Amino acid sequence: MNAFDEQNLRAALKGRTFGSIVFHGELDSTNTEAWRLAERGAPEGTLVVADRQTRGRGRMDRVWYSPPGGNFYGSFILRPPITPDRAPQITLTAGVAVAEVLSRYCPDGVEIKWPNDVLIKGKKACGILTEMKAVPAGVVFVILGVGINVNMEASDFTAEIRDRATSLMLETSAAVDRVALTVGLVESLEKWYRVFLRDGFQAVRGQWIARSRLAGKRIRVSFKERTQTGLALGIDDEGAVVMREDTGLIRRITAGDVTEEK
Ligand code: BTN
Repeated sequence: MNAFDEQNLRAALKGRTFGSIVFHGELDSTNTEAWRLAERGAPEGTLVVADRQTRGRGRMDRVWYSPPGGNFYGSFILRPPITPDRAPQITLTAGVAVAEVLSRYCPDGVEIKWPNDVLIKGKKACGILTEMKAVPAGVVFVILGVGINVNMEASDFTAEIRDRATSLMLETSAAVDRVALTVGLVESLEKWYRVFLRDGFQAVRGQWIARSRLAGKRIRVSFKERTQTGLALGIDDEGAVVMREDTGLIRRITAGDVTEEK
């Protein structure tokens, strides 16, 4: 097992521009640090990694629990030549890449949950937080943050998330080398990001649908105070969830939390 440190990560990712490593033992948040570096001109493909975060952040101002010694917390700086409205498609593309990597460790049970979670056997193993700086003319940069529960024991999770979260180690009964995992993640993300840039989200969509179990499920969508229910039909070429409400109305969902109705 390789120690998860700067030297090993740099050696394993040597020669790559995508995956050029900035490593810290501790950061407030890799997304925050990547944002700071991007503001100072850091190039596309820079990957900020920390062993521990003191202010790990999730979507909707949630906290991302980030203890040291066992997980992956990393943020990529991307500078895609796209309009700001397409940025959410990067989150979906990243979900495909993460699911591809986690499936190598767990051939069964890896599933993407729209828009940004990767589950193993129904429990959350990864969250993705995409943040963007944009001007009307286009995206200046995107920070793509990925948190993966790698070598967490059940008792390592806080009581609040224990029932809903899992780790690669819990699912495979073997500790995972975080350096090798990082290399796999960099390769997969770069591959799918290039497909997205070259051919658009429609070229990623089929993989996303194959790796999610959304289509055909009854879902509940919550956004701010509002809740809607209906039948999920899939996602469209823009990455929106397409849902048929009970009234027959077809609705496109571009934001919110989607849960399956039991
Ligand atoms: C979510 O599921 O709500 C998204 C969680 C994203 C967590 C990662 S960990 C690395 C990066 N730095 C952060 O502060 N958050 C993301």
